[in-house]
Amino acid sequence: MTNASSAPAGTPVLVPLAYRVVARRHETADVTTLRLSPVADAVAPGRPGQFNMLSAFGVGEAAISLSAAPDATGEVQHTIRDVGPVSHALCTSAPGDLVGVRGPFGTDWGVDDLGYGDTVVVAGGIGLAPLAGAIDVLAERRRYGGGRVFVAVGARNPDQVMLRAELGRWLAAGVRVRVTVDAAPAGFTGGVGLVTQLLPGLGFDPARTTALVCGPEVMIRFSVRALVDLGVPPGAVRVSLERNMQCGTALCGHCQLGPLLLCRDGPVVTWNDELATLLTENER
Ligand SMILES: Cc1cc2nc3c(=O)[nH]c(=O)nc-3n(C[C@H](O)[C@H](O)[C@H](O)COP(=O)(O)OP(=O)(O)OC[C@H]3O[C@@H](n4cnc5c(N)ncnc54)[C@H](O)[C@@H]3O)c2cc1C
Ligand code: FES
Repeated sequence: MTNASSAPAGTPVLVPLAYRVVARRHETADVTTLRLSPVADAVAPGRPGQFNMLSAFGVGEAAISLSAAPDATGEVQHTIRDVGPVSHALCTSAPGDLVGVRGPFGTDWGVDDLGYGDTVVVAGGIGLAPLAGAIDVLAERRRYGGGRVFVAVGARNPDQVMLRAELGRWLAAGVRVRVTVDAAPAGFTGGVGLVTQLLPGLGFDPARTTALVCGPEVMIRFSVRALVDLGVPPGAVRVSLERNMQCGTALCGHCQLGPLLLCRDGPVVTWNDELATLLTENER
């Protein structure tokens, strides 16, 4: 995994650059995906797992992960859940509107390290968004003989399953995708249950697996436990952690978790005992 909270020389990280909304897709009732194109100068492309600070002008700024691998267009993609003032303004912005972007910040999933072993991706809720770019890369590699990729997705109910276009694309590329929901109406034919219940049946080889996990913290803790119980070494599990981000540049301390500043040392961190203790002590 690499840390790129220090963007390339010359890239402004404290001043947002103007981007225009060029496409908008409603994923669920409260989740929207935006494609943003630079008006003039662009931020560095970023790597899957990293985040940008997006500003809704006149409202405020929020940390939002890249939800697609960088491509030649120079556009960035973000998938946002409408939970408060900033995310609401972003989710309701229309094609043509301007949004501020600064970044990219933090560590990434390190997909360049993942080649020929198995990769298991475990996503809960909006946690699929920060993982989507990594799955894009791994799916493309799989198409050309790369290692096996398993994706387990948990959502609250069938209406909350997001990034359906991506799920279909990954399946077509040979990724084994399984989706489960916490609760479903009568007659639902898909999987019902917690995302951890999908893990034993996925068919990966634990000893040669790297796992990428993102979602609510409680889901992360239970997923890591389930993976380790299945034989995945703790050091082969990477998780993405969220804390309140303000500066994104390791200056303000808002994102501190024990000795870590998660805008710099995270959001993607390798699992270890110290992290398990920190998360239990700072439960959220
Ligand atoms: C590194 C990182 C990556 C993120 N990536 C995404 C993403 O890809 N898509 C996305 O929708 N959101 C993402 N978030 C969460 C997003 O930054 C928050 O939801 C943001 O604070 C929303 O701002 P707001 O003004 O709309 O709501 P606020 O007024 O800040 O908060 C509204 C509600 O959301 C809760 N909340 C605020 N921040 C968080 C948080 N970090 N985690 C959980 N609950 C929170 C508050 O407690 C409150 O209940 C990410 C956060 C971090 C730190
Ligand atoms: S957001 Fe990490 S130090 Fe300011």
